[in-house]
Amino acid sequence: MKQHLLEICYLIGSVTFIIGLKMMGNAKTARNGNLIGAVGMIIAIFGTIFLHKGEVSGMVYGLIFTSIAIGTIIGWMTAKKVQMTKMPELVSMFNGMGGACAALISLIEFTHLQHSGEAATIGTMIAIVAGLVIGSVSFSGSIIAFLKLNGTMNKPLRLPAYNMLNNLVMLGVVVFAGYVAYSGGNMMLAYLLFAAALLYGILFTIPIGGADMPVVISLLNSFTGLAAAFGGFLYGNKVMLTGGILVGSAGTLLTLVMCKAMNRPLSNVIFGAFGAGTAGAAAGGKEVKGTTKEASVSDVAVLMNYSKKVVIVPGYGLAVAQAQHVIHELEMLLEERGVEVKYAIHPVAGRMPGHMNVLLAEANVAYEKLVEMDEINGEFPTTDVVLIVGANDVVNPAAKTNPASPIYGMPILEAENARNIIINKRSMNAGYAGIDNELFYNPKASMFFGDAKKALTELVAELKTM
Ligand code: TAP
Repeated sequence: MKQHLLEICYLIGSVTFIIGLKMMGNAKTARNGNLIGAVGMIIAIFGTIFLHKGEVSGMVYGLIFTSIAIGTIIGWMTAKKVQMTKMPELVSMFNGMGGACAALISLIEFTHLQHSGEAATIGTMIAIVAGLVIGSVSFSGSIIAFLKLNGTMNKPLRLPAYNMLNNLVMLGVVVFAGYVAYSGGNMMLAYLLFAAALLYGILFTIPIGGADMPVVISLLNSFTGLAAAFGGFLYGNKVMLTGGILVGSAGTLLTLVMCKAMNRPLSNVIFGAFGAGTAGAAAGGKEVKGTTKEASVSDVAVLMNYSKKVVIVPGYGLAVAQAQHVIHELEMLLEERGVEVKYAIHPVAGRMPGHMNVLLAEANVAYEKLVEMDEINGEFPTTDVVLIVGANDVVNPAAKTNPASPIYGMPILEAENARNIIINKRSMNAGYAGIDNELFYNPKASMFFGDAKKALTELVAELKTM
């Protein structure tokens, strides 16, 4: 009876994960989707604690609930406090903890096997060893990612012949893991394998540039999913298997989507940062020559006030300046005056997936106003003013016109087709890809220099006087 109830709990868990994930595909339903997934997880956890066969002593219950309480309090408090711009760091830390859990499960199961003296099947050994290796790589890699994102390790470190060294270590770990799985190993070998996998996780993540970390975090996330799925195999636990496979496949898909939107193969993200490994960065970026025009706050205010349609292109600088609230104020002010305002959202604007959507949602910008790249590109020719705020690479026409550019082939927002182009940033400095932007020299373009929050606050004040 208990076993049947437990199976039902796992079925509910699996179904809620799938429904929750589907609902997370849309900002309107994402919050509820997250809650539904969490409820499913709670049912699966409590089902396991109370319905799983076998005797559990009061002391073990005490340990389990104390751990759950500590984890819940720490997780809840950090998630409540975290700023939107620090989200990748938090995801990375949580992901690392998932990897550590998967690795520890494998170590514990390995210990059980050694103590029981039973001969494990090769399938069991593969599940244990794979969970140990993948979970450990994910754990140490995520911790390095966390340190990079919070600025503790802010320079990508590259030793001579780094890729070769890394690949050798990877090969060594795979061969060693194969040996342990095949031979049945012993505790000493298991700990050595654990240490080797941790080392590889560190080596794998260290050379990657800080701003590429979202792609790597997503990849490590899929590793954690895979490690958890091996745990599911090990225990014959269907909810662990479903959850692991969902995380693994969603992480892999997200990694590929991000790479595609940046027009960079995954190998380029892993083995060489923008500008460092690509000769094209110099050839494609520094050639732009021409003159730029500057617009004052009153020039911009007049232009916008007499427009029919304004499209705002938000980018990384908007997030850094925390200008999402003032941009919403600007949007409302313009709409009150009969100007149609939309936001053009590039899939990799900012530094994490959905960065702009989350940022603007935080400022209560209506979701219908956020228009995706493919759709908004057709609207630029009928746009009076495109206001680019802290965005650079995502509007760089070199992606279409300059085959030598490192971003050549990356789909961009075609802001150059608008009637007037206003660019707000602090200087003529490059964006993430480290290349110059020919859009700034377009005869229709004017630079509106300044920190986004300060400049937009002045713009709003100026508009109010009109
Ligand atoms: P970027 O090309 O990085 O440009 C951002 C611009 O914002 C900079 O040129 C900077 O110029 C300006 N800026 C910085 N602080 C500012 C402030 N306080 N006020 C006003 N402007 C400020 O950003 P983007 O156009 O959003 O493109 C994103 C880039 O990140 C792409 O290359 C993408 O491939 C990469 N990337 C994205 C992701 C995801 S998933 N979103 C992941 C990894 C990498 P100044 O210094 O002159 O102000």
